Amino acid sequence: MLGRLRRYPDVEAVNLYAVDAADRLILDVAADALAVAGDGGVAVIDDGYGALTLGAVAAHDLRRVRVHQDLLTGELALANNARAVGLADRYTAHALGRELLEGVRVVLLRLPRALSGLAEIADAIARYADPGVRVFAGARDKYLTPAMNDVLAESFSSVQASRGRQKSRILTARDPKSPGPVPYPIREQLEELDLEVVAHGAAFSGPRLDLGTRFLIEHLRRMKPDAHQAIDLGCGTGILAVALAKARPHLTVVGTDQSAAAVASARATAAANGVADRVTVVRDDAMSAIGDNSADLVLCNPPFHIGAAVHTGSAIKMFTETGRVLRPGGELWTVYNSHLNYRGVVERFVGKTDVVGRNRKFTVTRSVRGLRGARPD
Ligand SMILES: C[S@@+](CC[C@H](N)C(=O)[O-])C[C@H]1O[C@@H](n2cnc3c(N)ncnc32)[C@H](O)[C@@H]1O
Repeated sequence: MLGRLRRYPDVEAVNLYAVDAADRLILDVAADALAVAGDGGVAVIDDGYGALTLGAVAAHDLRRVRVHQDLLTGELALANNARAVGLADRYTAHALGRELLEGVRVVLLRLPRALSGLAEIADAIARYADPGVRVFAGARDKYLTPAMNDVLAESFSSVQASRGRQKSRILTARDPKSPGPVPYPIREQLEELDLEVVAHGAAFSGPRLDLGTRFLIEHLRRMKPDAHQAIDLGCGTGILAVALAKARPHLTVVGTDQSAAAVASARATAAANGVADRVTVVRDDAMSAIGDNSADLVLCNPPFHIGAAVHTGSAIKMFTETGRVLRPGGELWTVYNSHLNYRGVVERFVGKTDVVGRNRKFTVTRSVRGLRGARPD
């Protein structure tokens, strides 16, 4: 069954997989615990594309599995895969919190890249799950760090690493410690922007200002001054959206991000800075819910990872969508690590592109959508 799973609608490519050795190892190491967990006793967190959820359901005939996936593309892929294999009624999707975890005795977890993301998940499990809960957290060896044990050990008295298999490993955690005050989201004042950032654990860059984002914000004044409707594409904690809304009182901004943690953070950042009436945040894969020719200005600090893999697929998807969503004459402002050299890509998918800034690490470009569509006139 696992061999039938697909990544769609996430980027599909020869070197990107829907199921990997870490998924199989988690399912094998957790098999005895899953066999006795019972219906409603299992939660799955950050399943990539459904391998953990559907693998556990199929092997142990489970019902009422509760699932949280930070990434929308993973959530949609699980739903598609579950339909394809006839198991769509065996699980429900939830936000990270009490509803996901109350009464749960077994948690299968794909370790997130960000330690702060793991810290928020570990705290939630320790806080809300059954005191006898066992956590099976796995990843490929190259993404595991000793710090992950330490983060789990902040919430659990017992953390053990499994023997490796096919360059993958499992950390097993049990005996939850009694939790203190809820640690996330974190709030921090960015003095240089006079802006308060609110960040959940898995949000990009946490409560800090990313260096690329800072460089892009330096060009804020020049970004299409007559714009009324702007989009912060891949908004993370919403710093770009909120900085723009604060600088331009007549402008509305839609922030989009596929990460649930990012969306919750950006909404809270907008509220903390008094611009929630003009900044709307949606969880979306790129801009699939936004109409053609509907925006004057798009700001984007694009991702260069898909999950753990360095891949330009997400950025290209975002630029393609930008060509569709911008009105003729609308502008895309983007920043990227100069070695990635996205200029040709944005020129192709959006329109005529100029480099407007370059420092030792980053390049900022402005692309203007042509009158006849994505290709320059
Ligand atoms: C480099 S971060 C920039 C975040 C934020 N704009 C900033 O400047 O701090 C890229 C963001 O794109 C989001 N992202 C990646 N793929 C996406 C997709 N397909 N649709 C929407 N957002 C996506 C990530 O979750 C991440 O928050």
